[in-house]
Amino acid sequence: MGDPMKWVKKDPEKENVFWPTEAAKARAWVSDESIYAEAKADPVAFWEKYAKEIHWFKRWDKAYEFAPEAYKWFVGGKLNLSYNCLDRQIDAGNGDRIALIWEPEPVEEEAISLTYKELHRLVSKFSNVLKGLGVTKGDRIGIYMPMIPEAVIAMQACARIGAVHSVVFSAFSPDSLRDRMVDAGAKVVITADGYYRRGKAIDLKKNADTGVEGTPVEKVVVVKRLDKSTPMTPGRDLWYHELMDGASESHQAEEMDSEDLLFLLYTSGTTGKPKGIMHTTGGYAVQSYLTAKWNFDLHEGDIYWCTADVGWITGHTYINYAPLLNGVTSLLYEGSPDAPDYGRMWAIIEKHKVTQLYTAPTAIRMFLKWGNEWPKKYDLSSLRLLGTVGEPINVDAWMWYFEVIGGGRCPVIDTWWQTETGANMVNNLPGIGPFIPTVAGRTFPGVHGEILDAGGSVLAPGEGGYLAIFSPFPPALTRGIYGDMERFKAQYFTEYGPERYFTSDGARMDETGNTRITGRVDDVMNVAGHRLATAEVESALAQNNKVSEVAVVSRPHDLKGEVPIAFVLLKGGVDHSDEIRKELMGTVNQVIGPTGRPDKIIFVDDVPKTRSGKIMRRVLKALVRDEPVGDLTTLQNPESVDQLKSLVDYKGG
Ligand code: PRX
Repeated sequence: MGDPMKWVKKDPEKENVFWPTEAAKARAWVSDESIYAEAKADPVAFWEKYAKEIHWFKRWDKAYEFAPEAYKWFVGGKLNLSYNCLDRQIDAGNGDRIALIWEPEPVEEEAISLTYKELHRLVSKFSNVLKGLGVTKGDRIGIYMPMIPEAVIAMQACARIGAVHSVVFSAFSPDSLRDRMVDAGAKVVITADGYYRRGKAIDLKKNADTGVEGTPVEKVVVVKRLDKSTPMTPGRDLWYHELMDGASESHQAEEMDSEDLLFLLYTSGTTGKPKGIMHTTGGYAVQSYLTAKWNFDLHEGDIYWCTADVGWITGHTYINYAPLLNGVTSLLYEGSPDAPDYGRMWAIIEKHKVTQLYTAPTAIRMFLKWGNEWPKKYDLSSLRLLGTVGEPINVDAWMWYFEVIGGGRCPVIDTWWQTETGANMVNNLPGIGPFIPTVAGRTFPGVHGEILDAGGSVLAPGEGGYLAIFSPFPPALTRGIYGDMERFKAQYFTEYGPERYFTSDGARMDETGNTRITGRVDDVMNVAGHRLATAEVESALAQNNKVSEVAVVSRPHDLKGEVPIAFVLLKGGVDHSDEIRKELMGTVNQVIGPTGRPDKIIFVDDVPKTRSGKIMRRVLKALVRDEPVGDLTTLQNPESVDQLKSLVDYKGG
């Protein structure tokens, strides 16, 4: 490989501040500061301008319409997202480019590359399969799949026929699948017999079987990934490959209204019940397309790798839709970064000459811990740009990523956004900068964010408050919570009214608009980049009949960012033991999946409560963080705190 381009230069005056070089500016899609002012002057016109870069069967009549909790984008416009990802690329002469590279976990297995034409053919066939199963526009379809190309094919086919996909992370439990399928009223689930993880074949079908029991699901389509037999339920289960064999390759993408529902994605709120975040077609397509293009500097020939799972919003937008909207190659890796050894990430980058890498701070901290010798073994000079997402990044992790992985050449684009926002919202642009550890950056052009105090006043630069997003809302912002618009209003538009979306994130902004995100201000945790409510873990533990009371709080963790700590009061007659602790971990596994497991379960005789009997989580949170517990005068049982102090004694991490 030739001499790789140097994208960044150091600020001559400030430490740890970096700027794009002239060469980088020449290459980037936007490098002129004026883009911010232009977008700010007329954000609706800004989005309209770039919306014209994608394909519409019919252009919109009105770009933005606002009503409380019912804002709309590209009203009257007709388009199809999958058509935009596939047919549009073929029509533009890009059909022979590689759309997807799939890297299986077992190293002895060959990687698979699919061109845009091949992917189009498979998606068209699977669209016909779904139609053959009676799926029509608006039907909800569950996707419970590992990281295999068929996961992308399934999502694309749903978008193509206008069915609403609801992807459930493959490591989530059968109970989680069931709850989501019931809430969504899904007719069909697409799954796989299993997948490989750390060299082991994981049986996914067994979980799918349990998870669809007691749901409206009538058909289960199963992709064969493993070399072993899987029990199939007659009349319900169908093999993907058998259905595909007989399916026609010809399929006309459905004309969707800009505001037609595209997908649901369940995410944690502050209660025990995850909420089905709704995303619609036009606005999501436009913002996904433009943010990926500008933020990751996507150009013809790029091999772009986002390491998220397709089960999260990052996978939806930045593995599947956005790279394909931009005609680049999206890399999909099946397995774990430590299989067969700690060098796998870097081996994949070298092998496929990856140009952009987009990953999470938790992963970066883990790679850092594994040591520099692993990345040093490989040629990473193909990398041009690095991205991070999902949680606040610490200086050490940022600098390691920048220096060791990016060779000090590549910008680190720290993107803040949420399941609800659908696409990137706050980050600095690679052609404009600056790139500063722990600072995500400015709001993307056309997005208006401010830091507010609790009363809704805009705070002065440097003051800590809450990040809010102002109307005109960015096109990809969620349109609601499926089946619960009251909760939608209460969660996002009560704090600051209908014209300011409440993000639930704390932040501060400097005079130039550069924003540092400090983390959630509600009871939502970020555990190894996975979003999880303390209430979800509580309600999972409460399902064990030996538990009398439970309270869960989060505690910072060096590697995972945050972890849940559970305080458990057992029922009378049940003694504390490691056995019970194991059993409770098993309960969480069953209800949520391994992502919900507490870092520690502390058995207590009493938990601090107010006089009205409410558990004081504030006190528990202070205890596990080794912080002052504050005023205890309103407690019904202040003596409980002393006992807890001795039990917590927890400085691990
Ligand atoms: O707290 C913020 C954090 O992740 C939350 C959203 O989680 P989720 O919906 O699962 O989406 C994650 C991927 C988009 C936010 O409320 N978060 C996300 N990105 C960042 C971040 N915190 C700090 N810096 C980020 N770049």
